[in-house]
Amino acid sequence: MGHFASGVTVMTTAVADRLHGMTVSAFASVSLEPLLLLVVVERATLMHRLVMESKAFAVNILGEAGEATSRFFADNARLTVPEFREGGYRVGTTGAPILNEATGYLEATVYSTLAAGDHTVIVGQVIALEIVSEDGPLIYYRSGYRRLHG
Ligand SMILES: Cc1cc2nc3c(=O)[nH]c(=O)nc-3n(C[C@H](O)[C@H](O)[C@H](O)COP(=O)(O)O)c2cc1C
Repeated sequence: MGHFASGVTVMTTAVADRLHGMTVSAFASVSLEPLLLLVVVERATLMHRLVMESKAFAVNILGEAGEATSRFFADNARLTVPEFREGGYRVGTTGAPILNEATGYLEATVYSTLAAGDHTVIVGQVIALEIVSEDGPLIYYRSGYRRLHG
């Protein structure tokens, strides 16, 4: 799988006052009518527990300057500090945090789920989306971060 290059996103959700984010590269488009996407989330994660409760989430697409953000949202150390910096995000339609630095985002409600080994495939119905900037993408390839050139 490491030889398959992917983009990098931060999936976010909110349960009551608890805002949470997690780096996710298993993200794909599923259907145009209705507009569906999918993310694949490990069952042992805090994100899994929270999104099963909130039934809604956002997918924040990271641009080429997003490596530190990707590392942050994949590291358990973030759970000991406020995950979202004041002024660095806003609350979206679903209540999930939308990162200011995202080059684009999609917000979705949970449409269906499929248990798959130690992960769950979560299909979301898109209820809001926006392109924010034309910055190039952050790419994850063979366990490292890359950028597009040319
Ligand atoms: C580049 C990258 C991509 C990742 N993609 C996924 C993914 O698609 N699904 C997943 O469950 N975890 C993925 N992870 C791992 C989670 O981000 C990591 O386990 C996180 O700390 C779990 O968060 P939580 O338990 O606090 O919710 C990825 C990590 C990195 C660095």
